[in-house]
Amino acid sequence: MARQETARHRNSPAAGSGLFGREPEPAAARTPRAGIKPPGRTCTFTGLDIGTTKICAIVAEIDPAGKMTVRGIASTPSQGLRRGVVVDIEETIASIETAVRKAEEIAQVSVRDVLVGIAGGHIQCFASSGTVDVASPERGITRSDIRRAVEKTALDQIPMEREVIHTLPQRFVIDDGPVANPEGFSSRKLTAEVLTVTAAVTSAQNIIRAVRSAHYRVGGIYLEPLASSLAVLTPEERDLGVVVIDIGGGTSDIAIWAEGSVRYTGVVPYGGDSITEDVRRGLKLSCFDAENLKKRYGSCLPDTVRDDEKVEVPVALTGETQEVPRRFLCEVVASRYEEILLMVRDQCERSTHFDKAFGGVVLTGGGALQEGAAKLAERIFDRPCKIGRPSGLAGLSSVASSPIYSTGVGLVYYGLQADQDATLGETNLFQRLVRIFKKAIDWY
Ligand SMILES: Nc1ncnc2c1ncn2[C@@H]1O[C@H](COP(=O)(O)OP(=O)(O)OP(=O)(O)O)[C@@H](O)[C@H]1O
Ligand SMILES: [Mg+2]
Repeated sequence: MARQETARHRNSPAAGSGLFGREPEPAAARTPRAGIKPPGRTCTFTGLDIGTTKICAIVAEIDPAGKMTVRGIASTPSQGLRRGVVVDIEETIASIETAVRKAEEIAQVSVRDVLVGIAGGHIQCFASSGTVDVASPERGITRSDIRRAVEKTALDQIPMEREVIHTLPQRFVIDDGPVANPEGFSSRKLTAEVLTVTAAVTSAQNIIRAVRSAHYRVGGIYLEPLASSLAVLTPEERDLGVVVIDIGGGTSDIAIWAEGSVRYTGVVPYGGDSITEDVRRGLKLSCFDAENLKKRYGSCLPDTVRDDEKVEVPVALTGETQEVPRRFLCEVVASRYEEILLMVRDQCERSTHFDKAFGGVVLTGGGALQEGAAKLAERIFDRPCKIGRPSGLAGLSSVASSPIYSTGVGLVYYGLQADQDATLGETNLFQRLVRIFKKAIDWY
């Protein structure tokens, strides 16, 4: 039976470190954190983060002022994924069932719909544009015109084995030139420029199938680094422009934000598990011992460790212990961490928007908890860097405000966003799910 980590026996993470050196605002002033329009009534959503190392369910309420109260949170080790992609569906179903059931018990609610995240090397993003005739130029551009323009952008170009996960508007062009929000403008034509995010149909379908087999309904699919961004960034940070790096177990996911919108998403197929693997090999340990040692004594800044500092490590075969210099452990950790961040930077540099993200770098995900991570990232990116964690939460907030839960908390915010249908241009979810299924059937 899978080991269960619940709100009851996890330690509280350390408090947040502020916005690039500034003191954090009081929580009340900051809500809603995600910058999403507060709902008119209290709504409950369940975020389900199907990660490489853990599957985590978060049941949370968002009140009419936009404040989130975490009612239930549970995570279970994930054994059915590799680098963010489902490879063992039965294991994944079992972990989903365990995590959601436990979260339901803690929250004392019965869950039907869950918002799920998607990530992995199969995710691609590209810019495209679509132009439509405005239905009634004299009455002005309507939301329906905007939706048609956005949806026209990519659907024709998507190959059979891929499906659109998001169409994220970048800007609009009317007869008179570019505008941020074209609603109400008089124009004969409307062009939408969007960032289209696509996923491999099979990967998306496996996630949907696993959730359904666990007897829950998919209320929405959302790209994981975007979910994490909703949880950790303020609207001001999104306007300023930042790079969000979610360092998970199997992958490091990237989202570049500039001028209030996401401009680029990417993924590097390495995360904290590669660091653990290096520690395991370097010190000849079991995976379990290597993981513990890395978390407890590892650091991205070996230069700050004294030469004579030693750590005790178990000898795998005999169970005895031996002493090794802590500095050696930290050198192993730092060199892999640096390699991952350099790969992230290389990818960012390929995006024209990287230069606009001058606010800095926000590290989140479990890998962000590695000691010295922000300092190392600051050195590599030559920009300010901070650890991003969900904040301004009530209820089980001491647990949910760890960077490990950024994606899960962000998925709850996404539930609200999808509910309000506030994101103009988001392809209709139902149609999208139907297409994923249809394509998967044709594909097989
Ligand atoms: N205190 C810590 N110090 C260093 N690393 C840590 C710490 N806590 C967790 N990690 C690492 O974070 C990683 C797991 O992060 P997270 O829970 O965000 O991953 P995930 O969402 O399951 O995976 P992915 O997003 O890649 O699918 C593991 O590699 C783990 O070793
Ligand atoms: Mg993750």
